[in-house]
Amino acid sequence: MQNYILNEGYQNNSFLFDKAKGSRINIKNKSLIDLSMCAGSLLLGHNHPIFKKSIKKFLNKNISNLASPNIYAKKYSKNLKKIIPFSKIIFCNSGTEAVIKSLRLCKALSKRSKIAYVSGGWHGSTDQLLFKPDKYLKPIPISAGLSNEHLKNIVILPYNNIEKTKKILDKNRRKLSCVIVEPVQGSLPYEGVKKYLKLLENFTKKNSVYLIFDEMITGLRTDCSSAQKHFNIKPDISIFGKCFGAGLPIGFITISKKVSNKMSKLKQKVFFGGTYSGNSIVAYVANEVLQYILKHKEKIFKDLENKSALFENKLNKFFSSEKLDLKVYRFKSLIRLVYSKSHLKDRSSRDFFEKNKFSKIKRFKNYLKNQNIYLSASGLIFFSTAFSKSDLEYVIKKFEYGLIRYFK
Ligand SMILES: Cc1ncc(COP(=O)(O)O)c(C=O)c1O
Repeated sequence: MQNYILNEGYQNNSFLFDKAKGSRINIKNKSLIDLSMCAGSLLLGHNHPIFKKSIKKFLNKNISNLASPNIYAKKYSKNLKKIIPFSKIIFCNSGTEAVIKSLRLCKALSKRSKIAYVSGGWHGSTDQLLFKPDKYLKPIPISAGLSNEHLKNIVILPYNNIEKTKKILDKNRRKLSCVIVEPVQGSLPYEGVKKYLKLLENFTKKNSVYLIFDEMITGLRTDCSSAQKHFNIKPDISIFGKCFGAGLPIGFITISKKVSNKMSKLKQKVFFGGTYSGNSIVAYVANEVLQYILKHKEKIFKDLENKSALFENKLNKFFSSEKLDLKVYRFKSLIRLVYSKSHLKDRSSRDFFEKNKFSKIKRFKNYLKNQNIYLSASGLIFFSTAFSKSDLEYVIKKFEYGLIRYFK
């Protein structure tokens, strides 16, 4: 089939899915166990009955998709407030939009231009942040078409390196508008980051710099709330989306009381508009699914934890008994297989230790596909309650077999 689509992932025409249900995603008649779960958006799996029921209810009520202010966005915000601490909320359509608007807000409030970005973090297709560090932490653009202004304004902090981060922050403290961080990074998800996040919290508080937590992947997935609650950190601004949309496109920003007070004193308003921001179909369906999740919270999150822990423990035990240079990293139900067991702190060290293994990794991913397991290009694994015990046993068995084959 001729390909007209330039978006990421469409280059390979043989990998076009057509439907999905529960833990499975289909290409024609082939059914694969989906480890990506709609890029981490589906806690309950594909086409869960509550999702389908909510869409049917929405249609039966003849609500129509309302871009105008509507009661469904209001109701949804009220329920969100039960699980995330915030003063005000700004609905967007994607994580990227939420990131762009948060950076705009920080700039308006601080009247400063520099943005501190933490290495290894991903904040979507945001011009200001499409950079990666070289070995001296100098920014290198990862896309054509970025402005020199953005290159000048980004300050890169080394993830989880407290000493170096302190020095860089101190040097830039009068110029920084904000620090943006994924509290747990998809590039290396693990628990041991609290001290680092506390450093960012203390520094930003002391120096009137805004702290932005990008919780696109940790939001809701972290015990039905957030990483900020888990680590007991209070960012000024937070970004959510993915799971909160229950499979429909969403992003939103939450702001603290301090930020909302400061905003009210601005001479000119910060622009947050957008045709579908807070639209009724996403707000209605997401709210219905959220209420279901809240009602079954204990069962859902216990199940996610048990399955994710089993995957992590079984494979890590297997790697040590087989002396394989591999390690599973996990934070809650966010999982990544790293193709090295060396002690890693951040994405750069992961890249360093994995760099000679690219062709093996590619062959392993192809092997998984042939075994009817879909591991997305990002390599991140998101568990959902839709994985059955037998799915899990099958995936573990196939991982063990394939990893021995390609990495022993
Ligand atoms: C942490 C984080 N921030 C922002 C984004 C961008 O979100 P979106 O793809 O909805 O624009 C992503 C997407 O994967 C993400 O993982």
